[in-house]
Amino acid sequence: MTRTFNRTDKLVIASHNQGKVREIRALLEPLQIEVIGAADLNLEEPEETGHSFIENAELKAHLAAQVANLPALSDDSGFCVEALGGAPGIYSARWAGPDKDFNQAMERVSTALLASGSKSRRCEFVCALSLAWPDGICESFEGRISGELCWPPRGDKGFGYDPIFMPTGFSQTFAEMDPADKHAMSHRAIAFNQLLEACFIS
Ligand code: IMP
Repeated sequence: MTRTFNRTDKLVIASHNQGKVREIRALLEPLQIEVIGAADLNLEEPEETGHSFIENAELKAHLAAQVANLPALSDDSGFCVEALGGAPGIYSARWAGPDKDFNQAMERVSTALLASGSKSRRCEFVCALSLAWPDGICESFEGRISGELCWPPRGDKGFGYDPIFMPTGFSQTFAEMDPADKHAMSHRAIAFNQLLEACFIS
């Protein structure tokens, strides 16, 4: 049976990525839950040793829940390019290097795609969300959104790979869209809606 979240509990957002924390806070806002960022608790960023988005999300959520002794929500997400066999995928953050330079990461994607010789620009964003409790119970959900890789990058809203991702059926990249429009359709919102339905009582 799925464990449900008690709304009087505080919830830790187990992420140090400010872009993700901002989006998760916006998604949680209507629920009026007391939310604490991992950075506010001085939580360490664990090494992501999993082989899938869900494995990585679960290890981050478990660690934060144990250390904070509170329920913790984590996000592991990434940008997957079909012609690159799904890369950068779970290594999306690492492609930005130690300086977290996403202009460099986007250049790297574009160069790899050119070198692949493929004409396909199909890509997707994937987001795994895991909600873990201090006693070790954990619930995980995955959301995906497909699109086309856009080059050169466009727009200055959002974060990470947003400037090169154009969702199917739209003519703006995620970085050109109003953030509310991105939040309404993103991989994170899709995973979040599954989480809400399963774990939160309205
Ligand atoms: P991780 O989940 O901490 O391994 O990092 C995932 C990386 O994927 C982030 O640093 C971003 O670069 C990228 N990413 C995940 N979600 C998004 C998004 O919504 N927009 C742009 N980039 C994203």
